[in-house]
Amino acid sequence: MCGVIGYVGAGATPSFFLNALRRLEYRGYDSAGIAMLTQDGVVIQRAEGKLSQLERKLDKLPATAKVGIGHTRWATHGKPTENNAHPHRSGPIVLLHNGIIENYRQLKEMLVVKGYEFLSETDTEVAAHLLHHEYKNLTSGTPEQRMREALRVVVRQLKGAFAFGIICLETPEVLYSAKLGSPLVIGQADGESFLASGITALVEHTRQFLVVEDGEIVVLKAGQIEIESFDGKPVVRPFSRVEWSVAMMEKGGYRHFMLKEIHEHPLAIAQTLSGRVQRDSGSINLADLGVGSLPLKTLKRVQIVACGTSFYAASLSKYFIESVARIPVEVDLASEYRYRASTVDENTLVVAVSQSGETADTLQAIKSARAAGAQTLAVVNVPGSTIAHACHAESLTKAGPEIGVASTKAFAAQLTALYLVGLALAQERETLNQAELRFYVDEFVKIPSLVEKCLGLSESIERLANRYHQLSSLLFIGRGPQWPVALEGSLKLKELSYIHAEAYAAGELKHGPIALIDENMSVVCLAPRDAYYEKTLSNIEEIKARGGRILAVGQENDAQLQELADDFIGIPECSEAILPFITTVPLHLFAYWIAVRKGTDVDQPRNLAKSVTVE
Ligand code: G6P
Repeated sequence: MCGVIGYVGAGATPSFFLNALRRLEYRGYDSAGIAMLTQDGVVIQRAEGKLSQLERKLDKLPATAKVGIGHTRWATHGKPTENNAHPHRSGPIVLLHNGIIENYRQLKEMLVVKGYEFLSETDTEVAAHLLHHEYKNLTSGTPEQRMREALRVVVRQLKGAFAFGIICLETPEVLYSAKLGSPLVIGQADGESFLASGITALVEHTRQFLVVEDGEIVVLKAGQIEIESFDGKPVVRPFSRVEWSVAMMEKGGYRHFMLKEIHEHPLAIAQTLSGRVQRDSGSINLADLGVGSLPLKTLKRVQIVACGTSFYAASLSKYFIESVARIPVEVDLASEYRYRASTVDENTLVVAVSQSGETADTLQAIKSARAAGAQTLAVVNVPGSTIAHACHAESLTKAGPEIGVASTKAFAAQLTALYLVGLALAQERETLNQAELRFYVDEFVKIPSLVEKCLGLSESIERLANRYHQLSSLLFIGRGPQWPVALEGSLKLKELSYIHAEAYAAGELKHGPIALIDENMSVVCLAPRDAYYEKTLSNIEEIKARGGRILAVGQENDAQLQELADDFIGIPECSEAILPFITTVPLHLFAYWIAVRKGTDVDQPRNLAKSVTVE
């Protein structure tokens, strides 16, 4: 979704704004703009399409400015045209926005009557005119005092979600913002202050960050930051230091962020395990995992809410958590859960899984669960994110920054964290004995090197992609935990290569999808040797009997499977407990190489956004 940046300090160049916006590209966007304010006035440049289009206009911006704002827009109201791109101007006010102003129609009608002219189709322009209107109506106080007061009045009138970047020509050394629902962080360095939608935009300039909370107005000056609540009460919160480095956000020699991030699966898993498992004692360090404060012993059930890839990580973990902790686990799409009648109580643990920690549906789902009395846990990848704030406890997936829109290494880290939560529950509820716990800990520790081995399949999967990239449709099947793996594989394929793909629990094949099988249909069959192996083999036979083409994923020494399949991906031997970590890797690579072969935009697939902060 949209990316917001802002600067106030000794001076920033157009390239500063462009580079910061580049760091937010991963969020998804379809137009962009920058405004820079100097003593000669404000210059605004906007462009439709990718940032390279805006880059062509950089020479039209001032060489340097003490205050400026920038934006990548993901169209919601109005097409992704230059005219609809932010920032929007109304008199002395220049404003940009991430979020949706739900009551924009009523406000627009009121403003039109008052004579304001609308130049775009956006909801955002309403906020610019409204702020201008309220500012103009205040007659006493300095321009800065009037801006602050006008902002307080405006935020009370807006319904929906917003994180603004605002400059006012009459206060040329001040940058303003207000936040409700959309993510916003502020950063501080020597004599410079920044705002952004995510810390990735600013890591090369500062490591000192503060997460702005809902209902807060921010006033930034060079190296000076003031926060107040919407009703004007001062807020004091310390900055925290983030250890992400610039190198972590570069491609590091890989062709795409996605390929780099797939190769970071082992690191993401190892980092998420680190400090949380004690090999000698075979125990889980509850405090390090972030679940130490939760009443794990007395829980009666677990619900997990998530969207997209995070939902598949959650779905997979259900099998593991139920088997080791003997507690019922329900997994829900957050967009559905938030509108369902709640049945939670203080004996229910509701877990929100989210890479970004900002997904609007997941946030609302966890808020409603907490309001209904549940214990809540955030499994997030971005420290201090909104979802983490909304929960009783936070367990970090330590995948590091993920830039590719399609989530890969974060999935591996989520799975790791959720499996650890399963072990933590088993340990506290004594559903596993010491030897069993030690077995799992030992197995988990092996995952990074097994995944590393699996990454060696990349070249052969690239060759395979040459035979599959022209297909218009593909099925994926799996049983047990391999079913969510199949779902994840099919999601990755469709989002990256725009090939229609569907995943089914293999046992469901005969209840419908088998009608699709003929010599034109290829089926990716997840058939590692697990408890479901024989049954999955029978499904493969059924597909073959109807002329379908089989791409099988199974253990590298499985001659029987290899014989049955038209194409075969052989994964290393490992115990059944950790199989999903391994079988996911070839599916991520498969989707990646098909997308590369098709020439689609791998890191930023069309219509998708990394952080979905609207409903
Ligand atoms: C978007 C992204 C997906 C992600 C989903 C959930 O759709 O494109 O990659 O899985 O949001 O995001 P979250 O940050 O909550 O995990």
